[in-house]
Amino acid sequence: MSELRTYEEKLSDVQIQTLIRTAIAQLSYAYTPYSNFRVGAALLAKNGKVYGGCNIENAAYGPSNCAERTAFFKAVSEGVKEFDAICIVGGKDGVLETYTSPCGVCRQVMMEFCSPEDFWIILAVNEKDYKVFRLKELLPMGFGPGNLI
Ligand code: THU
Repeated sequence: MSELRTYEEKLSDVQIQTLIRTAIAQLSYAYTPYSNFRVGAALLAKNGKVYGGCNIENAAYGPSNCAERTAFFKAVSEGVKEFDAICIVGGKDGVLETYTSPCGVCRQVMMEFCSPEDFWIILAVNEKDYKVFRLKELLPMGFGPGNLI
C-alpha cells in the first residue's frame, strides 16, 4: 500500500465542488483585454479559507499576472502560507471547453509553498468534469526551498 494519500482521502466532494464553483465565479473578474482568455482559480488553505484569483493583464504584457498567482499572493499577503489544493478553470471569452493547466511560473510558485506530494491541482471544465493531479506530477523534480538548506 502506498504511504501517499490519494486526493479522495484529502479532499471532500464538498470541498472540490466549492473550489470549482469559486474558480468559475472568478472568471467574471478576469481583466483580459489583450488575450480575452479568462482564468479563474480557487486556492484552499490548510486553515479552510478559500482564496479566489483571476488573471490580470497589462498593456505592457510582461506585468500580467496569472489567476493562480493572484490567489497565492492574496493569501500569502495575509499571512497564510499553507495550502491543500487549487482549482483552475479557463477559456477564451470565459467559455470553458478544455482543461486549463498552470503555466510553469505558477507551478514554481506552488513549489515554494506546497508539498509536491500532497498539494492537489484540480483542473476543471465544470462541476462534473475535472482531473486532479499532485503538484509533483505537473512539476517533476522541482526545485524548492528544501534545495537551499
Ligand atoms: N493564464 C493564467 O492566468 N493561468 C494559467 O495557468 C495560464 C495562463 C493567463 C495569462 C494570460 O492572461 C492569459 O491566461 C493568456 O495566456
